[in-house]
Amino acid sequence: MSGCWNIHFFTQSNSHFPGVPMKRLSSGFVPLVRIDPRGPVTLRRQLYECFRRSIAEGHLRPGQRVPSTRSLAKELKVSRTPVICAYEQLQAEGYLRTIRGAGTCIATSISGSIANRGLNGRALGRRTEARRPSRRVMQLMALPDESQRPIAGPFRVSLPALDSFPQRPWARWVSRHARHASLEDMAYGDPMGYPQLRESISEYLGAVRGVRCDADQIMVTSGSQQGLLTALRALLEPGDAVWVEDPGYPGAHRALALEGCEAVPVPIDHEGLIVEAGMARNPSARAAYVTPSHQYPMGMSLSANRRIQLLNWAQRSDAWILEDDYDSEYRFGPQPIASLQGLDTTDRVIYIGTFSKVLLPALRMGYLVVPKDLLGAFRATRDAMDIFAPTLYQRVLTDMLREGHFARHIRRMRVIYAERRERFIAALERQFRNEIEIVSAEAGLHLVLLLPAGIDDKLLARRLNDSNIACVALSACCLQRPERGGLILGYGGVPPHGIDGAVRRLGKLLREFDQS
Ligand SMILES: Cc1ncc(COP(=O)(O)O)c(C=O)c1O
Repeated sequence: MSGCWNIHFFTQSNSHFPGVPMKRLSSGFVPLVRIDPRGPVTLRRQLYECFRRSIAEGHLRPGQRVPSTRSLAKELKVSRTPVICAYEQLQAEGYLRTIRGAGTCIATSISGSIANRGLNGRALGRRTEARRPSRRVMQLMALPDESQRPIAGPFRVSLPALDSFPQRPWARWVSRHARHASLEDMAYGDPMGYPQLRESISEYLGAVRGVRCDADQIMVTSGSQQGLLTALRALLEPGDAVWVEDPGYPGAHRALALEGCEAVPVPIDHEGLIVEAGMARNPSARAAYVTPSHQYPMGMSLSANRRIQLLNWAQRSDAWILEDDYDSEYRFGPQPIASLQGLDTTDRVIYIGTFSKVLLPALRMGYLVVPKDLLGAFRATRDAMDIFAPTLYQRVLTDMLREGHFARHIRRMRVIYAERRERFIAALERQFRNEIEIVSAEAGLHLVLLLPAGIDDKLLARRLNDSNIACVALSACCLQRPERGGLILGYGGVPPHGIDGAVRRLGKLLREFDQS
């Protein structure tokens, strides 16, 4: 199509514009500007229509900055006059607004009318059966909302002590690698991960968790959620049944729903997953997802007897065990508990680990330990997903592990969490005396308050979250209705000076709820 230009170009943020709402619209691409200088329609008209359509369709949003007439004319290689004329007309009709000395932006006054009529109107018109998401995603979306992580407030579950994270050294380590990244570091990497990091992780797992593996069995993942998804994709078919602990980790329920697998709820007791109950419910399940070191959310560890039963079942039925070892670094008692993978002599266990609790959830780094005969399958699966984990952070983690910072960080954090846990339990006991039962192992970063029978824990959790006490209802982790509801409360992310006040507020809100 000779003589036609399709040009994308950048705009700047509008945040410094006087009179434009402070809500910052990100700077970004202006949608396609397509003109034909030799066509029958004048350039001025083409430009005018192009902008008007982009605004109506919502590609250009109210408040967003547009390029100056000079730079647009330069980009399009046309004279400035038609651009000025088009802008003047758009301005006269209220689409554009010029602020002297600052530039031209899409008028904010059109937000409720033209913009909505454009994009949303079109989408509504086309909403048919064929636009439904996949059945698997509908299954995913049908899971209880309460299982989603709340965003703010004390007692947020799954949060480490971000206030004690060594931010300055971290910034130094990251910038060291960002500044000195080699050409190789900036290119595509290995789907299994950065070799030196895999080496360090395998040494760490062998020494501290009793995991039996070589470096080549480690796959670096984007957190344990991706590790679990990768394992499900590599090993299972849609429709396959998978045992899950009940109550159990909602993130695993979501992963199974997304992969179209059937979650088979298996009850737990003080020894963890009741293997016999699993065999009674579905002996031919293809896998079991378990948290043997620190059951999520109830906290017990899987007894030695149950570990043997589970491994025997997996061997007999050719099933896989997905071992999620999400926070085992933090045990405060004398006895660290070795991994289930270390007991497995038949390569049925896929070990899933994460740096989310031990460092930062925002890092999105974790790892899998993959049986040797499955390495090809896992590598191919990962290559088809997101190819590999970001090299920069893999290199930073390698240094942390090799130079001893990681081990020091864990030792330091263990002291911090033990103190927070002790203080939290003391405050709860003072606040509630015998009214409420506390379920807490000497491990991890959260505990469970069991509520008296008959209390709707989801409703209570919603009320608490609305009042900035961030907790999760126990029943949101259950696939079968529990006898008693409860609240899962994270103490890892609450600084000690905030604990007593937050527990008093929790007590007040619980009493108000009880009386309502
Ligand atoms: C049981 C369990 N597994 C895994 C994770 C961590 O997930 P990720 O590594 O994807 O952040 C959590 C965090 O809350 C968890 O509770």
